[in-house]
Amino acid sequence: MQTPNIVQTSCLLSLLFHACQGNWFSICQPQGQVEAAVRSHVTLVCVVSSEIPHGPVTWYKETGSDHRHFFSSSPRKGDIHDRRVTRTNGDQANNFSITIRDVRVSDTGKYYCEKYTKGEWDKPYALGQGVILTVSSGSTLHPGSAIVQQRSPVKALEGSDVVLTCKMPSITSWDLVRWYKGEGSQRTHVYSGLLKAGDRNDARVTWSGQNPGIEFSIVIKGVKINDTGKYYCIKYDDEKGDTISKEGPGVTLIVTARNVTIIGPPGRVNVGEVVELQCEANNYNDGTFMWMKNGEAIPQDHFTIAGTGTWHTSRLTLQTEKGDIRSAVQCVQGKNEEQRMSEVFNLSSVITGMQRVKMLVHH
Ligand SMILES: *[C@@H]1O[C@H](CO)[C@@H](O)[C@H](O)[C@H]1NC(C)=O
Ligand SMILES: *[C@@H]1O[C@H](CO)[C@@H](O)[C@H](O)[C@H]1NC(C)=O
Ligand SMILES: *[C@@H]1O[C@H](CO)[C@@H](O)[C@H](O)[C@H]1NC(C)=O
Ligand SMILES: *[C@@H]1O[C@H](CO)[C@@H](O)[C@H](O)[C@H]1NC(C)=O
Repeated sequence: MQTPNIVQTSCLLSLLFHACQGNWFSICQPQGQVEAAVRSHVTLVCVVSSEIPHGPVTWYKETGSDHRHFFSSSPRKGDIHDRRVTRTNGDQANNFSITIRDVRVSDTGKYYCEKYTKGEWDKPYALGQGVILTVSSGSTLHPGSAIVQQRSPVKALEGSDVVLTCKMPSITSWDLVRWYKGEGSQRTHVYSGLLKAGDRNDARVTWSGQNPGIEFSIVIKGVKINDTGKYYCIKYDDEKGDTISKEGPGVTLIVTARNVTIIGPPGRVNVGEVVELQCEANNYNDGTFMWMKNGEAIPQDHFTIAGTGTWHTSRLTLQTEKGDIRSAVQCVQGKNEEQRMSEVFNLSSVITGMQRVKMLVHH
């Protein structure tokens, strides 16, 4: 099955460039997934890169382990022809897209567009990556009836802003959607478009404003460690909010503490030698560092700063001197006062006094 592999890669590349052409023969099925309501008309796109080699292009439908002929522009004897299916652009020699009229739930499945060369029917010359058609019986264009929230936990650093998503299966009023944290008697109200008596909106929370009518995602600004928990997006039957119509599966938010750590050299150094200390911090979008020795600022040309996003590092090169065995070095991370973090490092843990060295030498 080497040929199909090559072809699929080519289609992926084509997808990236939103085009259906390549340097070698390829079949492009750019849609990936199509969702449709019962009774609507659906077009499944298939474009081949060239008319050469000659031979038919045929559609197959896969449901479970069943892989059967669905449509061919030049059917062979015995091929069943579904009257609802027609070639969409019969006038374009490279376009083998099909339109299925009046779709049914049973049309749900994966459809492959395959190229055969003349007389070689046992193995396709090339095949597309397939398109998954899902036909839903609901009257709306959005199939499925569940509220969608992020499936995997949302991880965030203390102080950052997070988005918790909530997508409704159909157009919904703001007045019917409410966000809660936790379960059972522990459940607390987070945010609503229309407040119920006794509830308050968390002042840090707003709607994300994406896809109005369908999406009810929220943004929480400056999350705290105790915001960690599971958040539920709930749709109610009416404005009173007594009866739940649909409840989302919940999304877990995990907020991690910001911290700063100083890492010393792997071995000890003697007084008078240079010691390197590394300060590491996770801090949202702030890579500011300051170093102090015994309460006095160390000049900036003694340290470097690196890092991106939430992870920042500063490397200090310090010439040690007599008395440093009692010195403390401090790394201060963060610009503004309330976001600032610091860590103290006692040089006694890495430097060795001369006396001990001498004793070792004379031993
Ligand atoms: C092929 O036909 C389909 C259905 O009409 C159309 O959506 C698609 O843009 C066409 N593609 C090309 C490359 O002509
Ligand atoms: C969460 O922690 C913050 C301080 O980080 C505190 O002000 C707030 O009251 C706490 N909230 C709850 C519900 O415990
Ligand atoms: C500091 O934060 C990092 C990244 O979140 C984490 O891997 C590390 O364990 C934390 N250290 C402490 C002491 O909390
Ligand atoms: C550093 O030294 C001070 C004073 O000697 C001491 O109180 C403190 O516990 C030391 N800290 C560490 C991390 O060793």
